[in-house]
Amino acid sequence: MYKVSIQGGRRLKGAIQISGAKNAALPLMAASLLTESDIKLSNIPEVVDIATMQSLLTIHGASFELMNGKTSKKRTLLIRAKKIVNTVAPYDLVRKMRASILVLGPLLTRCGHAKVSLPGGCAIGARPVDMHLNALKSLGAEIEVEEGYIHAVAKDGLKGAKINFPSVSVGATENALLAATLARGETVLHNAASEPEIVDLINCLKKMGAKIEGEGTRTLHIQGVDCLCGAEHKIIPDRIEAGTYAIAVGIAGGEVELLDARKDLLEEVLSVLCLAGLEINETEKGLRVICKKNRIKSVDVSTGVFPAFPTDLQAQIMSLMCISRGKSLITEKIFEGRFMHVPELCRMGAKIRISGQNAYVTGAEKLYGASVMATDLRASVALVLAGLGAEGKTEVNRVYHLDRGYENLEKKLKNCGAAIERVLVH
Ligand code: UD1
Repeated sequence: MYKVSIQGGRRLKGAIQISGAKNAALPLMAASLLTESDIKLSNIPEVVDIATMQSLLTIHGASFELMNGKTSKKRTLLIRAKKIVNTVAPYDLVRKMRASILVLGPLLTRCGHAKVSLPGGCAIGARPVDMHLNALKSLGAEIEVEEGYIHAVAKDGLKGAKINFPSVSVGATENALLAATLARGETVLHNAASEPEIVDLINCLKKMGAKIEGEGTRTLHIQGVDCLCGAEHKIIPDRIEAGTYAIAVGIAGGEVELLDARKDLLEEVLSVLCLAGLEINETEKGLRVICKKNRIKSVDVSTGVFPAFPTDLQAQIMSLMCISRGKSLITEKIFEGRFMHVPELCRMGAKIRISGQNAYVTGAEKLYGASVMATDLRASVALVLAGLGAEGKTEVNRVYHLDRGYENLEKKLKNCGAAIERVLVH
């Protein structure tokens, strides 16, 4: 087991390469199950969730080839699912990563049956899959849940339908979309998610021959086709990773250029950071984030579906608000249990009171280094960020959470002057 050790108080200066978006890459990898031809995905991030999806797709019969050398920008994964040899997604892999549920739609629509383990709860809330299952039922699947597994069958294939999601779900939209590409006739998804990762998925599906309209809006029209072909696609840059490092600059101070970061994917986040007193400029290569002030201003933040402030940056912005001037109200509207980082931040001297979905943060002059425990991916990075600005040494335990979604986190921060290292725990 490893922990990450941070000596706080160093300003950041330099450049950070933003990797490809994990949350775009995962559904794109699942989409490779829809065709027997090659899917070539470039800008694949080197993170554990991608390896987990690779293991799962291998069980289903996909083969992989990693091409184009070492840098993440050039890393290309060639996936070929010529024949589906197994339609069971086992508990051991699904429990590691909820996004495994994304193989359900593709397996069902291509093979007419699939058995996928229920992902179960996780540290950020109950996270049910009812909307995934109801959408597939609307497309004609018979679904039963038995002994922890989803058994889905569509003997005569899936049939297009009108689906009205009761609330917005990224994963359910992706599963329904993937399934509908090969269903007979037209599917309309109302109240669909419009996150950039969904637009990226649709762009690739269209290259594969899928007929889809409405990407980036809340209504998607999918005209089912008989088969899909191969495609080459470059994954969008990770807006959550870019937002995380922009917030890091706010906490540590300094100036960092985020290479390949895209303003259009981060509008709300950037406007919050500008209100807090950061300077952010577009450059030829990405975004430059500058924090000259010793103490930034408190800002109220409410998470929501895109284009609102992403829930995946809520923990990180809270770390920033903990050392800002004034009071901030942070409202979590997507996941009910996503304040697991709060007790850990409080151990570092943060002043936070939770009431339901609201966190009331009173900015402190500074935080103090402590030994803290990571509970999930974004919570753990929020603790690392807090450590960058804290006085003394912070040790973040259970860093395997970080490795699920951040490529070379310590290296990227170290290159900008942070005193951060990974230490083996005996
Ligand atoms: C995806 C992202 C995750 C991000 C989240 C919200 C991936 C791999 N993960 O997760 O990083 O935090 O979007 O932007 O892309 N819900 C139900 N029933 C369902 C499905 C969802 O009630 O069948 C609820 C969830 O509990 C949650 C809300 O809907 O309260 C939104 O969740 P959803 O958008 O589905 O998140 P994920 O796709 O799991």
